[in-house]
Amino acid sequence: MEAEARKKLVADNFNELFGGHPQFWSRAPGRVDLMGSHTDYNLGYVMTMTIDRDTWIAARPRQDQRVCIHSLNAAGWGDFELETLEKTRGCNWTDYVRGTAWALQQAGYKLTGFDGLVHSTVPFGSGLSSSAALEMACAVMFQQTSGFTLDPVEMALIGQAGENRYVGMNCGILDQYSSTMGQAGSALLLDCRSLSSQVTPMAAGIMVVICDTRAERNLVGTEYSERRTQCEQGVEILGKHYPDIEALRDVSIEQLERHNGELPEVIYKRCRFIIEENQRVLDLKQALPDGNRQCLGELFRDSYLGARDLYQISALAMESMYHAMLAAPGVIGARQAGAGFGGCMVTLVQAEAVEAFAGQVQKDYAQRTGIQPQVFPVMAAAGAGLLK
Ligand code: GLA
Repeated sequence: MEAEARKKLVADNFNELFGGHPQFWSRAPGRVDLMGSHTDYNLGYVMTMTIDRDTWIAARPRQDQRVCIHSLNAAGWGDFELETLEKTRGCNWTDYVRGTAWALQQAGYKLTGFDGLVHSTVPFGSGLSSSAALEMACAVMFQQTSGFTLDPVEMALIGQAGENRYVGMNCGILDQYSSTMGQAGSALLLDCRSLSSQVTPMAAGIMVVICDTRAERNLVGTEYSERRTQCEQGVEILGKHYPDIEALRDVSIEQLERHNGELPEVIYKRCRFIIEENQRVLDLKQALPDGNRQCLGELFRDSYLGARDLYQISALAMESMYHAMLAAPGVIGARQAGAGFGGCMVTLVQAEAVEAFAGQVQKDYAQRTGIQPQVFPVMAAAGAGLLK
């Protein structure tokens, strides 16, 4: 949908819901990781990219301490007091709004409430960070209505705190950081320890294409925290030999191999994946601007095989999608995206073949699974801010 038409749709609905016009507009994009699955909470690296799918909030400040928020895409709505967030949960998408408000207040910011309407083009629950996009659009909006300014990294940390401690999802920093720090036209190499990043351009002629399996991701919560715990267990065992180790980021493959026998097999596999995946991110930093097709293909392949066999975050639908993607014209590399367990996967495709690639994947995957996937190219968009 064109931006003007989208703006009109939101403004008309705002008028119907609240009467009158919105005063401020905020936006925040979703993201896709090109390399670095589950490396963020291991304080490692991720090659991340914002996508040109985003979440908008149109809002008007209120005189009181309430937030009244609706969405054009999701069922349910929220009408809540900012002072009593601790006690009130919405148990729907509004918890990301409440969580962000809660975390801002915990950080000492005094908030002014608003009437707001959300509109999003980020697919929900499929690993493209629709939650972080909502949180960050919300953090931008609170800065406008309440009159303070956050730097983008602080904003990301506040969003993560809300999600960890209010919503109860123990995510790393990747999603929120990508949404606030993302750069139009480039990928971003994120260092999750220093929270610094480097803009990484992509060679001309290569497009990023998302392949959404549209398979349910119901394992994400429990399996995700289990993986985190397993990584911590690995660090604990290895830390007995190497006291300087704080996270798997600090462990080399040689160190891991030396103590292989002391680690339960499942812990060994998890550690091996993270250590190798971290190195692949650094390798991609070289390969992405160079555009070496063979190298890109191998990095993506090794990432998927590791995610499937060592970290075990693949799913039947993802395996079918992987084969459909690899069999399609113009493919350079194919792998998982986000947390895994279903949801979206990501490919690098020759720009001139994108249409043929999408058509073939749709047909092939539907034949393999009986599910109609969504396949669409994405471009890196600017990080969260006011809507221009
Ligand atoms: C989810 C989490 C992120 C990150 C990814 C996996 O998106 O929210 O913090 O751990 O999974 O890389």
